[in-house]
Amino acid sequence: MSKILVTGGAGYIGSHTCVELIDAGHELLVIDNLSNSSIESLSRVEQITGKPVTFEQIDIRDARALNQLFDSHTFDAVIHFAGLKAVGESCELPLEYYHNNVSGTLNLCLTMKAHNCRNLVFSSSATVYGDPASLPIAENFPLSATNPYGRSKLIIEEMLGDLHRADSAWNILLLRYFNPAGAHPSGLIGEDPNGVPNNLLPYISQVAIGKLEQLRVFGGDYDTLDGTGVRDYIHVVDLAKGHLKALQKLQQQPGCKAYNLGVGNGYSVLQMVQAYANASGKKIPYQIVDRRPGDIASCYADASLAAQELGWSAELGLDEMVRDGWNWQQKNPDGFG
Ligand code: NAD
Ligand code: UD1
Repeated sequence: MSKILVTGGAGYIGSHTCVELIDAGHELLVIDNLSNSSIESLSRVEQITGKPVTFEQIDIRDARALNQLFDSHTFDAVIHFAGLKAVGESCELPLEYYHNNVSGTLNLCLTMKAHNCRNLVFSSSATVYGDPASLPIAENFPLSATNPYGRSKLIIEEMLGDLHRADSAWNILLLRYFNPAGAHPSGLIGEDPNGVPNNLLPYISQVAIGKLEQLRVFGGDYDTLDGTGVRDYIHVVDLAKGHLKALQKLQQQPGCKAYNLGVGNGYSVLQMVQAYANASGKKIPYQIVDRRPGDIASCYADASLAAQELGWSAELGLDEMVRDGWNWQQKNPDGFG
């Protein structure tokens, strides 16, 4: 057992990871500024695990609050989810994205260093591969960014690499998530987007439940099996379990290393629509419209490095993702309310 600080732990991936961490016997402290989440998610984590969750409402950009926190607790490692994640919004509000993601992470690392905590798991994204030259995408592919959100992740990855090069006592795992989907099978926690969802599965769910009229499929002329975009959707519970393996890896003092967390194969938009329609028994009306600027045709992981070096691979498939996503949507039509 070890004591873990979880930043952004009230959010979608964070809350699912809290469940796995608690079940595995870790002691947690969650911080979040609740800018994109509800404290209710942590009550639900308590309900699922039967254990209390210690929470403090802290913004990672608040150096004083972070220092006070580290003065009164000793953490073995930090799992760092906190940040902003909407690509479109990042193009409109680049400074907010760099401030939250880059300055926030910088602040966190400065505080960790000052308190001699040098074990970090960072939430990166497959977006750092830009438009890959070939598939599947391996960790050693060239990195690039096409929008401020992606660039913030890339800058952080580079900053963390520099940090380890300067001081090899740091152990840092950069987890590059592919497309998280689904929800905890209890239906108690899941994704609760603000306003109209940007991402495919939350959008489809809201069409299925009748909150949105129809899905707009962005592009029907890609060079893919049916012309629609292909992505590597990964069950959020599998993703959460990847963080347990990352914590184990940190104990081997790996230095700074990046791992893809994906399933290793992709599904098209229309395949996702069909799977969701089957799971929900609902019709998902859709219309094929123009491509969304910045989108790529296909993206899926070479997931073999995480299998070899973390001992992690996805166990759940598309059926579980859509089943659990629909269960969460039906039980919580208004999210956490
Ligand atoms: P989320 O928005 O549900 O969770 C992020 C949490 O961080 C939220 O609870 C939010 O309130 C909190 N937060 C934001 N800024 C903060 C700040 N300055 N101080 C403290 N808390 C702050 O998002 P998620 O889907 O759970 O994503 C978690 C992480 O994984 C993010 O860093 C995201 O960029 C990354 N990621 C997500 C996806 C995805 O599709 N969901 C894919 C790749 C990477
Ligand atoms: C998005 C982010 C990316 C992040 C990734 C991981 C964008 C542009 N990119 O990727 O930075 O790393 O999530 O979660 O937001 N689609 C539709 N109609 C919709 C919504 C989506 O057809 O209403 C299609 C998209 O064109 C794409 C697929 O569904 O082919 C998945 O889209 P989305 O869920 O937004 O994820 P990504 O674009 O892969």
